[in-house]
Amino acid sequence: MSEKKAQLTIDGIDKTIVLPVYEGSTGPDVVDVRSLVGEGVFTYDPGFVSTAACDSEITYIDGGAGILLYRGYPIEQLAEHSTFLETCYLLLNGELPTEEENADFENGIRYHTMVDEQIHQFFKGFPRTAHPMAMLCGVVGALSAFYHDTLDADLPEHRMTAAHRVIAKMPTLAAMCYKHGVGQPFMYPQNDMTLSENFLHMMFSTPCEAPKVSPTLVKAMDTIFLLHADHEQNASTSTVRLAGSTGANPYACIASGIAALWGPAHGGANEAVLEMLDEIGDESRIEEYILKAKDKSDPFRLMGFGHRVYKNFDPRAKVMRGICDEVLAELGIENDPLFRIARKLEKIALEDEYFISKKLYPNVDFYSGIVLKAMGIPTSLFTVIFATGRTPGWIAHWNEMMSSEYKIGRPRQLYKGYTARDYPAK
Ligand code: SDX
Repeated sequence: MSEKKAQLTIDGIDKTIVLPVYEGSTGPDVVDVRSLVGEGVFTYDPGFVSTAACDSEITYIDGGAGILLYRGYPIEQLAEHSTFLETCYLLLNGELPTEEENADFENGIRYHTMVDEQIHQFFKGFPRTAHPMAMLCGVVGALSAFYHDTLDADLPEHRMTAAHRVIAKMPTLAAMCYKHGVGQPFMYPQNDMTLSENFLHMMFSTPCEAPKVSPTLVKAMDTIFLLHADHEQNASTSTVRLAGSTGANPYACIASGIAALWGPAHGGANEAVLEMLDEIGDESRIEEYILKAKDKSDPFRLMGFGHRVYKNFDPRAKVMRGICDEVLAELGIENDPLFRIARKLEKIALEDEYFISKKLYPNVDFYSGIVLKAMGIPTSLFTVIFATGRTPGWIAHWNEMMSSEYKIGRPRQLYKGYTARDYPAK
């Protein structure tokens, strides 16, 4: 660690507190404030806007420049040249696989894609109208019941088996959430298909027919999973790390990440974007909604816009917009009304002083919903798709934490409640 220091003076403490400052390989330095508890003070950072919760080597984001690197590789290059599974290997292991390593990894995933037949019974307990995220959260947490006793998180090979299992099973479970909702039988994964081809097969095939899925749509699905694969210490990944810091098994940790992702301010935004575009309904009403988004007294926000870290274009949104063009052209719906509204909304917002001054740009969720809807995936399944893509990132962060020195996460608070008082005498 570097010899940089920070000096802090606090009224009421008659000494200068010297704090170590650490440099990363790139990005902001961090001030190590761990010694402050010994001085009787805490730092205060609701929402963790200025807080680094851990060291990590997995993903780097430069929000000002709109840069996203997975293990150093720019997301744009991975989206163009890699696949979702190769990217899963990269996130987990830190390097791109050799051909042999890639073949082994794909094989390892391929033979974990089925779920225990008992899991089929879990779905029977859900109403057909259950939100797919409610089902996914439940059944992934239930995976613990099948595997929790075959896991010693201190053993790298046990951690990798858990990683293979969750990456392999999420597409199967995601498709089962959809099939349960539409009342069709579950489709089994096919070992002669790639992960994304398999997912679309399990979604749209039935025992009566197996429609051929175009390579363009398979590639689009694979790239959508890849774009969502990781994103540093976002809310759901931080939830997975916090759960993991207690020693909870990885399946329970992934279930906690799914729960956190569900919120409309996070992974639920892709579903909320479609609902917003549907509500706007026509290009003539865009200005009305831009005004609502700018009105402090109106809780409405432009869904798919803004980001805690990106104060420039989300590089994933640019790639997603290109996928949108390709998929809509493939399906012959270039004039899709929702896509037209989205493009017009983006243009107007990016020229509006309010969005410019607050550095609000489209994020990954702005276009993903339009692509997924065009592919026939219902809006209610969008965040399940996000969770399926994000699983390698969640489990890579869990694995990174479990393979290094870590402490149980236990933040403190600024207490504003009653000081001690006696129970009133009767
Ligand atoms: C994801 O963290 C990640 O990495 C997440 C993610 C990932 O891959 O894991 O990238 C995925 O969650 C993307 C974000 C999806 N969410 C949405 O699209 C929902 C709409 N966006 C907003 O809710 C908001 O922009 C957040 C939640 C994304 C970020 O909120 P911050 O960082 O807490 O910023 P803020 O709420 O303090 O906003 C700053 C200002 C505020 O105005 P002022 O109080 O300064 O006057 O900008 C305004 C906000 O009111 N603002 C918006 C806005 N987003 C922020 N105004 C209108 N529309 C918006 N979308």
